[in-house]
Amino acid sequence: MHNHRTTITQHIIEEQRRIQNATGDFTSLLNDIVTACKVISNLVNHGALIGVLGSAATENIQGETQKKLDVISNDVFIKSNEWAGHLAAMASEEMDDVYLIPPQYPRGKYLLLFDPLDGSSNIDVNVSVGTIFSILRCPDGVENPTKEDFLQSGTKQICAGYALYGPSSMIVLTTGRGVNGFTLDQNIGEFVLTHPNLTIAEDSIEFAINASNMRFWEPPIKRYIDECLAGKEGARGKDFNMRWIASMVAEVHRILTRGGVFMYPVDSKIKQQGGKLRLLYEANPMSFIIEQAGGVSTTGHERILDIQPNALHQRVPVILGSKNEVERIARYHQETSA
Ligand code: AHG
Ligand code: MN
Ligand code: MN
Repeated sequence: MHNHRTTITQHIIEEQRRIQNATGDFTSLLNDIVTACKVISNLVNHGALIGVLGSAATENIQGETQKKLDVISNDVFIKSNEWAGHLAAMASEEMDDVYLIPPQYPRGKYLLLFDPLDGSSNIDVNVSVGTIFSILRCPDGVENPTKEDFLQSGTKQICAGYALYGPSSMIVLTTGRGVNGFTLDQNIGEFVLTHPNLTIAEDSIEFAINASNMRFWEPPIKRYIDECLAGKEGARGKDFNMRWIASMVAEVHRILTRGGVFMYPVDSKIKQQGGKLRLLYEANPMSFIIEQAGGVSTTGHERILDIQPNALHQRVPVILGSKNEVERIARYHQETSA
């Protein structure tokens, strides 16, 4: 018996039909992004067999040693997305400056931001990694976009998504009408809709934070985690569970699947740089997805999607996930400020 499944392409085309005067540009752009994710998935899957593990001899603008796969994945994204004429420019964690579409290709009306490989520290130990992307509209009349044209608040995103390279490869996507998850069927080479309309439970008893930073935490975070750790006997009256994968993509995917909170707050060690995670290609796309699934995403003091960016590689504190837990943490921040 043949079981018909919606492919990601079919899903995107059906979305496009809802939009009047849609040209198909966006659909085609998404298809190229999907292709890039398939290529990266294949490289990650083959790992040591094709010699892609380990470090490159370079550092990115954030002063982090690049992994070979960081550099390769960045290149795959550029090559897959520069030729078709839908983009004016791209920006990535692994590139200091904006990448303008080269003159031999037509330029289009969108801007693409991405973290080509999220969770790089996990590559060599064969733990899940991912790709995060965000699509913005290029401001009207701009033919040679500069950094400033990318500095749009998260509410302006047209689409956000991530690919997760785990036991199975998945793409999770929002265009502002809910969140859908697709699983790569290796036999037919297509992502098929397996997780329609993902929603996040409002309550949860699972948190994710890098507890090695505990001595640097600010009081509201310390209070929240202390209360979780106190369990049944403490203020919360129930036991909590903890996870830390060190791949934001994998943490967000877990939260979309079974609820929870993920925190990479600002602490005294990273105060200078404003946080750990990057606003434009990590925090914003993930916040768009989380909100579209009914969750909440905040710095502790403000909604992430409302932040007016001031730099391409700006970092922000991130607290996201199940509504009631994230709102509680935001309340603890207000109470400390007051
Ligand atoms: P990237 O690999 O793209 O630099 O991002 C890694 C991020 C995020 O995915 C993860 O949650 C966090 O950094 C892990 O940080 P620690 O190593 O401090 O735990
Ligand atoms: Mn990352
Ligand atoms: Mn990365």
